[in-house]
Amino acid sequence: MRQLIRPALAVTVLAVPLLLGSASATLDNDAQTILNFGPRVAGSPANEQARAYLEAQFRALGYETRRQDFSYPRFDDLGSDVKLGERVLGGNALQNSTGGTLSGPVVRVPGVGTTEEFARVDVRGKVAVVARGEIPFAQKARNALAAGAAGLVIVNNADGELRGTLGDRVALPVLGVSPTVGAALIDGAAVTLSVRVREGEVKASNVIAYKSGVTAPELLFGAHMDSVQGAPGANDNLSGTLSVLEIARRAANTPLAARAYFLLFDGEEDGLLGSRAFVKDNAPLVGTLKAMFNLDMVGVDVTPLSLTGDSKLVEAARGIAGVQASAGQPGGSDHVPFAQAGIPTLFFHRGLDKNYHQPGDKVLDPALVSETVEVALKVADSVLSATPVR
Ligand code: BES
Ligand code: ZN
Repeated sequence: MRQLIRPALAVTVLAVPLLLGSASATLDNDAQTILNFGPRVAGSPANEQARAYLEAQFRALGYETRRQDFSYPRFDDLGSDVKLGERVLGGNALQNSTGGTLSGPVVRVPGVGTTEEFARVDVRGKVAVVARGEIPFAQKARNALAAGAAGLVIVNNADGELRGTLGDRVALPVLGVSPTVGAALIDGAAVTLSVRVREGEVKASNVIAYKSGVTAPELLFGAHMDSVQGAPGANDNLSGTLSVLEIARRAANTPLAARAYFLLFDGEEDGLLGSRAFVKDNAPLVGTLKAMFNLDMVGVDVTPLSLTGDSKLVEAARGIAGVQASAGQPGGSDHVPFAQAGIPTLFFHRGLDKNYHQPGDKVLDPALVSETVEVALKVADSVLSATPVR
């Protein structure tokens, strides 16, 4: 009740519709421009175009930017499938599979590809088909190789495409397929299995934006700007990327700019590699942080805006309308290396949408991004205004 008559709140409420109007237009324009570059897979031209565009936006706001370059080996699927006659059915190479194209009859192995199951059929020189589950992909592949198969198809045991890794290299072309494709691979059907793969060195780069002279930030706002192959990455994670840019825009001429760093991480989808590289190589910067806010998948509202992390930060966020705050350290995004380095983190997200890592991830709602930014700024205020006990 007391809060309702606070003048500061009244100002905020009146200002919100005006701010949302212009912020949404800018966000929408940035989103369309960046989505037009294509999926921002680390090391791709689209990833670099997006980075250059984002750097220019930070600079136009009066920030300095620098890059942190890093590189790592990655296995890429250059386009793999199984064909039934002339019909391309689809599929994805399993990571660490061998490349190759071969034609032959399908042999349905009864089960998941154990040694005993392979012993019941003759797969020599043929394309073995097994179900996902029970034993590791690599074990299925080694069993297929030992039984003399020329190639292996693993059929997903849940709806949708199958992507995965063998872990260890196996000298056999191995393709993952959806149950729909799997059903078309009947025993004896003549198929062509094509697995086109490459192992290369990815050149990746984080963007670091800050106001000139700031070397001891208290807050770091971060988001990953890369996306997975085949997915435009609107929600995962252009939504978080544009949130960080928008926070920088709103902070530009305020004291917050002198107390914060803004990070766009690359290589997140390949294993949090950008945030790991940043934490590893920037110990002095990381050491002054009171908190790291990571924004990832905040443009589609599967759940209310969820804030998860350090219990004191969660406490600071409690009571903000429409926010679900809970203590905990979930994995899976760029806050993890910071948390592991002992920095209090807060992970902002709105849940896993149905287009996660899919070609359909092409929409983000600028209003949700604006709302996320409002919340992040409120929590930032609360964290920075908290007086140290000693
Ligand atoms: N954006 C996701 C993480 C995420 C999941 C955010 C659910 C919000 C809700 C991230 O890009 C991702 O895909 N992470 C991987 C792990 C990572 C180490 C490659 C994951 O969660 O499987
Ligand atoms: Zn992702």
